[in-house]
Amino acid sequence: MSESQNKQSTNGDDTRIALVTGANKGIGLETARLLGETGATVLLGARDPERGSAAERDLRDEGSDVHLVALDVTDQQSVKAAAARVESEFGRLDVLVNNAGAALGFGAAPSTSDPDQLRTLLDLNTVSVVTVTNAFLPLLRRSAAGRVVNVSSEVGSIGSMTDPEGPFFGMSGSPAYPVSKTAVNMLTALYAKELADTSVKVNAANPGFCATDLNGHSGPRSARQGALVSLHLANLPEDGPSGVLWGHLASAQDPESYGVLPW
Ligand SMILES: NC(=O)c1ccc[n+]([C@@H]2O[C@H](COP(=O)([O-])OP(=O)(O)OC[C@H]3O[C@@H](n4cnc5c(N)ncnc54)[C@H](OP(=O)(O)O)[C@@H]3O)[C@@H](O)[C@H]2O)c1
Repeated sequence: MSESQNKQSTNGDDTRIALVTGANKGIGLETARLLGETGATVLLGARDPERGSAAERDLRDEGSDVHLVALDVTDQQSVKAAAARVESEFGRLDVLVNNAGAALGFGAAPSTSDPDQLRTLLDLNTVSVVTVTNAFLPLLRRSAAGRVVNVSSEVGSIGSMTDPEGPFFGMSGSPAYPVSKTAVNMLTALYAKELADTSVKVNAANPGFCATDLNGHSGPRSARQGALVSLHLANLPEDGPSGVLWGHLASAQDPESYGVLPW
């Protein structure tokens, strides 16, 4: 999947208004950068004003139309305030990338894992998708081509994780992160069903294993490569899919293989 392919799939001539949560660093920052480079007005969601301002400044210096939006995805009031601001300043939303997230407890097996880590990640990685999507859905419904991208992971795919021939079968560790992303996948399927008769598409993104703070920069892919997955789903044409988990295919021989993954 090349960057030019993504540019070609951009919808229409009108400037797209795109919000990315957790956009001050990592895959979210690169997603905001790519959206800006492809001509969108980018609403850069960040919970920390200083980190958010620094990212906003960087992307503006590169020529993008970027606006910092204070947004802590675990704080209902913060989410409501962000939606009210976007409504009053922009009137609609074309793209929502639910990107903010974290990982915890990769060391422990399920039988020794800490339930509090699961609670924390369900709140941050999963419940936030509902809070943010519901707050912004009225604005997305005003778009001619609304796109919701829920940043998930192949480790949230039960099909991939239980495939004895697959690359994740031998993966051990706490269930907290995979379970939080499996639930994001289910949310994606359910929102896509609910919105099937509207112009809003809802898909889950698998960025692949990318070097970011989340994993101590251990991933072999770059954050920009991961962000290209979200960009692709953000710019899906009218005949594109809704209700799929799409992105990097770890099982493929070619490291640049992309496609639909099993739930
Ligand atoms: N890296 C990978 O290999 C990989 C693979 C599959 C999926 N993903 C997913 O990709 C997404 C981005 O992860 P990343 O790898 O780019 O990690 P990252 O570099 O650690 O970035 C995470 C982002 O989420 C933000 N965030 C955390 N809690 C938040 C909250 N309560 N409200 C708003 N923002 C919050 C962080 O902000 P602060 O700076 O304020 O903490 C940061 O901007 C996550 O959903 C992750 O699960 C990553």
